[in-house]
Amino acid sequence: MYVGIGYDIHRFVKDRKLILGGVCFDYPLGLSGHSDADVVLHAIGDAILGAASLGDIGELFPDTDDKWKDISSQILLDKIMELVWEKGLCVNNVDVVFIAQEPKISKQKKKMERRISELLKVEPERINVKATTTEGLDSIGRLEAAAAQAVVTLTHNS
Ligand code: CDP
Ligand code: ZN
Repeated sequence: MYVGIGYDIHRFVKDRKLILGGVCFDYPLGLSGHSDADVVLHAIGDAILGAASLGDIGELFPDTDDKWKDISSQILLDKIMELVWEKGLCVNNVDVVFIAQEPKISKQKKKMERRISELLKVEPERINVKATTTEGLDSIGRLEAAAAQAVVTLTHNS
């Protein structure tokens, strides 16, 4: 069993779609970033890369490369999974926490888990999406940003 950790944070901006865990949210602000800034998928991607000893998202998809500009993070996660499978590994389970004052994601959590499970090719029962606010404290509490933390375990493909 291999364990990896991931953390990411993006700034809220106007005129950008909000996509979290591969699910589009109806919210007046989006997250800024070189790709679509899906902070949930970025934290999961980094945790997967960590568990597989494959570095991190920034190394694989540098924000200096226009190839990755505005790209869907679902495509980035697809590429990460190709590398993981090539190593003879697969995802055992994922636990991710979305940290934001707004939007509340409770109603969309199951949909996010389903989408993540499709991307990682595991049963939805092995994916857990949680959320918390920062109780109005810090930049996240001031609605300036949203963050995510993830822990992933990988096992050998049998
Ligand atoms: O301290 P605790 O996380 O229990 O409380 P909170 O930050 O006020 O969040 C209460 C609940 O709201 C959490 O258990 C989450 O399920 C949910 N929540 C959410 O759906 N979306 C967020 N952006 C933040 C919290
Ligand atoms: Zn990111």
